[in-house]
Amino acid sequence: MGVSASAFPNVTVIDHPLVRVKLTAIRAAEASLGDFRRNLCELATLVTFEVTRTVGVVGKRIKTPLAEMEGSALAKPIIIAPILRAGLGMLEGMLKILPEAGVAHIGLFRNEETRLPERYYFKAPPNLAEAEVIVADPMLATGGSAVAAIDHLRDAGARSIRYVCLVSCPVGIERLAQAHPEVPIFTAAIDPELDHRAYIVPGLGDAGDRFFGTV
Ligand code: PRP
Ligand code: URA
Repeated sequence: MGVSASAFPNVTVIDHPLVRVKLTAIRAAEASLGDFRRNLCELATLVTFEVTRTVGVVGKRIKTPLAEMEGSALAKPIIIAPILRAGLGMLEGMLKILPEAGVAHIGLFRNEETRLPERYYFKAPPNLAEAEVIVADPMLATGGSAVAAIDHLRDAGARSIRYVCLVSCPVGIERLAQAHPEVPIFTAAIDPELDHRAYIVPGLGDAGDRFFGTV
């Protein structure tokens, strides 16, 4: 069913069995609010493991109870940038393994008539320029929201940005890769297409509505 990642050099598909199983759980229309939330949160943790695989580390001298040794510390601070609202659903799962990360909230909603993103909030930590910024949103549909979010982060000084979503499609990937070719894209799945309302098919429906119970 999924589209092959080989068509998109900038994209990593996080194709792990646990990711596939949990993604199946949140795609299912009958998932309860609790199951949807729990699986989305766990997916966010799992994908963060892959998204951070290439972050730099520096040596850190520590003492165990028995001896001194050279350990590792992250070379740069990490900032997670969830795109509201649905991106908030990923935040808790990401913070589980990045507890020291700052958070840049990016408030955008897609106007369902124009399908263009409209900004309503932006608040980022002051160290954006020194940080590794991870933009998080479950859905990459037309790509408009992802491009707008990264535009805002760049304007605010962010220099090193990666983008992670759960479900994407070729249209959104191409749009994002064209606007920001330097931003690596991580996704748990590439679905074939968008429908006439610009929803991803098969997708999982409206991620924000399903996560917050506003369906
Ligand atoms: C959804 C989703 C993305 C956006 C994707 O948010 O979480 O942010 O749509 O669509 P795009 O790639 O075509 O821009 P939505 O605007 O529905 O807001 P919400 O999270 O508040 O429900
Ligand atoms: N936003 C969603 O939440 N789902 C889609 O399929 C497209 C945009």
